[in-house]
Amino acid sequence: MRLTDPALHALWYRALVVGATGRARCVVAMLVAVVAISAGCAALSPETGDLRAACADEDSDPATRVVFATDIRPLMDGDAPGIRGCRRCHYGSSSDGEGLLETGLDLETLRALRRGGRRSPPDAIVVPGKPCSSVLVQKLQGTFGGARMPKGGPHWDASALQLVSDWIAEGAEGADDE
Ligand code: HEC
Repeated sequence: MRLTDPALHALWYRALVVGATGRARCVVAMLVAVVAISAGCAALSPETGDLRAACADEDSDPATRVVFATDIRPLMDGDAPGIRGCRRCHYGSSSDGEGLLETGLDLETLRALRRGGRRSPPDAIVVPGKPCSSVLVQKLQGTFGGARMPKGGPHWDASALQLVSDWIAEGAEGADDE
């Protein structure tokens, strides 16, 4: 049989075309798999957070006023059951705080908190009346860049997040030393 034989030609043609489309299908399948796997991992990752909720600027409970010193400070100190605080990594008094060292964000007092950190735009750490624009909320929800806070988890549940959001919606008030 010679190479110019029409039957052989047809065979070669089929092998090439089928081979090519087979490869293309395989590449598409692999891409789909990669996208699906990475989406799955993102949803499960404690760093990006699987509890991400849509943000709302409204005060969820206008009848109740959130008081930073008694409602939020204990959560940041890490004193509330089941909630990881920020003390170890972001308090000026903890000598090896990795969050403080990396970003300069000191959460030990309200005055220091309001100064923000190096990674957030100026005056964005807490924007009174606008929880969704506040980096503090975005970091707790995992929607800002970098790790979701508290880094490594466990992350704050919906009711703890709502307290921070409502405090900001109500004007983010509080004395410097709170
Ligand atoms: C285990 C250590 C650790 C804990 C606990 C932790 N952080 Fe962080 N935090 C970091 C590190 C490291 C960074 C910088 C890297 C990043 O942003 O992912 C950071 C960055 C931040 C930033 C961005 C600062 C900037 O420059 O704008 C905010 C806001 C923040 N943390 C808030 C919190 C809050 C609120 C808590 C407590 C609920 C907390 N973090 C607990 C380690 C920690």
